[in-house]
Amino acid sequence: MGRDLFYITTPIYYPNDVPHIGHAYDAVAADAIARHHRLRGEEVFHLTGTDEHGLKIQRAAGAAGIDPQRWVDDMEPRWREVWARLDIGYDDYIRTTEPRHQQAVVKLLDDVHGNGREDIYLDTYEGLYCVSCELYYTESDLLEGGLCPIHERPVEVMKEDNYFFRLSAYADRLLEHYEQRPSAVEPESRRNEVLSLIRRGLQDFSISRTSFDWGIPLPWDPEHVTYVWFDALTNYITAAGYGTDEDRFARMWPANVHMIGKDIVRQHAIYWPAMLMAAGIEPPTQVWAHGFLTVGGKKMSKTNLTGIHPFELLERFGVDSYRWYFLREVQFGQDGAFSLESMIDRHNAELANGIGNLASRVLAMLGSYFDGEVPPNVGGGLESDLPQVVAAAAARYDAEMLAVRPTAALAALYEIVARANRYMVERSPWTLAKDPSSRDQLSGILYASAETLRALAILLAAVMPGAAGRLWEQLGTGEPLAEQRLEDAVSWGRLVPGTRTRKGEALFPRVDAEAS
Ligand code: MSP
Repeated sequence: MGRDLFYITTPIYYPNDVPHIGHAYDAVAADAIARHHRLRGEEVFHLTGTDEHGLKIQRAAGAAGIDPQRWVDDMEPRWREVWARLDIGYDDYIRTTEPRHQQAVVKLLDDVHGNGREDIYLDTYEGLYCVSCELYYTESDLLEGGLCPIHERPVEVMKEDNYFFRLSAYADRLLEHYEQRPSAVEPESRRNEVLSLIRRGLQDFSISRTSFDWGIPLPWDPEHVTYVWFDALTNYITAAGYGTDEDRFARMWPANVHMIGKDIVRQHAIYWPAMLMAAGIEPPTQVWAHGFLTVGGKKMSKTNLTGIHPFELLERFGVDSYRWYFLREVQFGQDGAFSLESMIDRHNAELANGIGNLASRVLAMLGSYFDGEVPPNVGGGLESDLPQVVAAAAARYDAEMLAVRPTAALAALYEIVARANRYMVERSPWTLAKDPSSRDQLSGILYASAETLRALAILLAAVMPGAAGRLWEQLGTGEPLAEQRLEDAVSWGRLVPGTRTRKGEALFPRVDAEAS
């Protein structure tokens, strides 16, 4: 396709309430991946937003005694505020109540409705509906006692005239699509789930409602409003210009990665590509579905009363530690239990002791022994295997980030930290410093250590932009970190002797376990 653009999306979140750390999980992951592509010099378009229509929102607003528009207008800034504090650097924020989105949804509906194959038709629907999922379920999907498998709350019987989308007609094309593109759904467990859902046979799904009015009316029958998934999924093409700027759309689409949680795989990997095929639009390149953060073995959620607001952790750990923890602790793609204890342990072990201590030791020694200046790179060979370790780790980090495996990527980066800390112990520069005849050796060792810090600052920037920026400042190169590229990290010897470094505040102050 010859594109020079990386287009990544997060789900758009329901603003029926404020975010919890489960929502922030995919926001942080998508941001780190987006920043990594920027580090590689690519043009990046990172989209996020809020999913503002539907019964769930209408009910939340009704319970508060205000109209839904006012509800979402009040709620949306509270999401953006969290993203700002989490250093989420999105390029566009879409609200499904915006006119540009209405235009795109209407165009998509018209395109599918008018495609000559009757892919949208009217019928009566009676089914078991979970308001929290905004999904109909069959009896066999439900838990014992007729509970929703996700929310474990009773489903409701709903009967109404609905327009349907003829999903059943797309099973073969979907199968062919996924069989030809093994990485179109990741991880493998989700791909298998999608393939088996398609093979079991697909049922048409309903795309409109008359039982509530908080949504976009169908252009050919305005008594009906568009049901939430047809509205929500379309955000990904709205923001790319569909319905408003066709040239832009041609350049932007398809999206490279839709980052989502595993609960919305069916909608993203089956409904969405079929809807697009029906309109003659290419499906997204990849859907990447991560697992759940769990508490007591269950999905963390407000409904389970286990939702933790990100601010509760940010105040204690800081944004960089927050981002590091969630991407490093939970194997991306699997479920993972959140616990404060594991967060404290990881913070102290890997950030305060690991990265923070390495930086402060090296910068303190540069201060004490070389008046804060980067010493000359003398005494060839003293750098040991550090250049190779940095290059190998950076290559692995890059490959893992490109494959959207941030946990494995961070493990690769941490090898640099572990090796550099061992190198300090092996070479013991603090001992050499006592012997004036070892000045050259001391100089070579500290040069290599500072050079490793330079590489680390560049490599850490996608995951911990704030801390990487502070480390970069302390190294004093005078160039903006944002202009550094992946290849700069591995060009050993870039740090100019004589550069004035400055040991600043600790990058990661220790966190006390008792204070919890
Ligand atoms: N509005 C829909 C998505 C439409 S996308 C076209 C929606 N919104 S949501 O607010 O309920 O969820 C948004 C994302 O948060 C989903 O990817 C979901 O998986 C994720 N998470 C919500 N709770 C979670 C955890 N406990 N753990 C990890 N992520 C989870 O669905």
